[in-house]
Amino acid sequence: MLIKRRRGWELREQDATPEAVYLDRRSLLQAAGFGLMASALPAGAAMAQAGGAAGPYPARQNMRYRLDRPLTPERDATSYNNFYEFGSHKGIAGAAQALKTEPWTIEFTGMVEKPMKVDFDELAKRMPFEERLYRFRCVEAWAMAVPWTGFPMKSLVDFAKPLSSAKYVVFQTFMDPKIAPGQRQSWYPWPYTDGLTIAEATNELAFMATGIYGKPMPKQNGAPIRFITPWKYGFKQVKSIVRVEFTDKRPVGYWEKLQSSEYGFWANVNPKVSHPRWSQATERMLGTDERVPTLLYNGYEEFVADLYKGMEKERLFA
Ligand code: MTE
Repeated sequence: MLIKRRRGWELREQDATPEAVYLDRRSLLQAAGFGLMASALPAGAAMAQAGGAAGPYPARQNMRYRLDRPLTPERDATSYNNFYEFGSHKGIAGAAQALKTEPWTIEFTGMVEKPMKVDFDELAKRMPFEERLYRFRCVEAWAMAVPWTGFPMKSLVDFAKPLSSAKYVVFQTFMDPKIAPGQRQSWYPWPYTDGLTIAEATNELAFMATGIYGKPMPKQNGAPIRFITPWKYGFKQVKSIVRVEFTDKRPVGYWEKLQSSEYGFWANVNPKVSHPRWSQATERMLGTDERVPTLLYNGYEEFVADLYKGMEKERLFA
């Protein structure tokens, strides 16, 4: 059996949370208020080469996407991560610095008019950057609310020119066991991949994120580019993407390959559908002890429910 080993997200959360998060809770709670939110709202978008990363930082915020909760303090969102390439625990930020993100090439392949390899900086020049405040929900029942910089996934799909026969898009993370110790663990199905239907990928919420908190993406959060589908559990949202493939076959992602009884293709958030080993009814906001009720589609029902009409027989919430 492939998976008898305990994964990071099977740890009890208090076992995995970095000590600093607990030691400094009071100042984190203060920072989590609207003061921080205001400072994260840039007035305008200035084209800048911040740390060599392409894109505008900060970018103009798209006010269509509102939060019902305070932003998560930046230090929590950037120090409590899942990035199995660098270890199956939350404190991988240091190890992730070994990832070299410049230059960075993305390959477009499969059912496209013309396969191509594109330099990330060149791609970024052609994309409509903005900032969006989204809720984020991990299948482990922790959650955050963060400002992502990037561009709609639809713009990436349009750029790639998939054939009309393509039904899915699959994203793949880099593969380099020399710098990513997790990838030397051969029982995991590297490289990390996951995919969406074309309808999901072109839904207005689907977002390619290149930055966070008005700055280029930290390596531990998936530099230089990852995707965000805020109505789905975090494990779908592939980091450090090097390959985008269009296909007519439903892809089997990293976690589904490891444990299909627990992780499926759709992975939409639903408080009423428990993970086989824990409830999904509530979630803990990162940096706090606060538990809040989980919302259907993570609160984005009005944007995405139509995608799943008539699919009641599918396993939409695992
Ligand atoms: N992408 C890659 N390549 N490797 C990973 O281990 N973990 C996923 C997702 N994307 C993961 C990944 C999981 S389980 C979660 S919850 C989110 O990334 C975590 O994103 P964050 O560290 O920015 O919060």
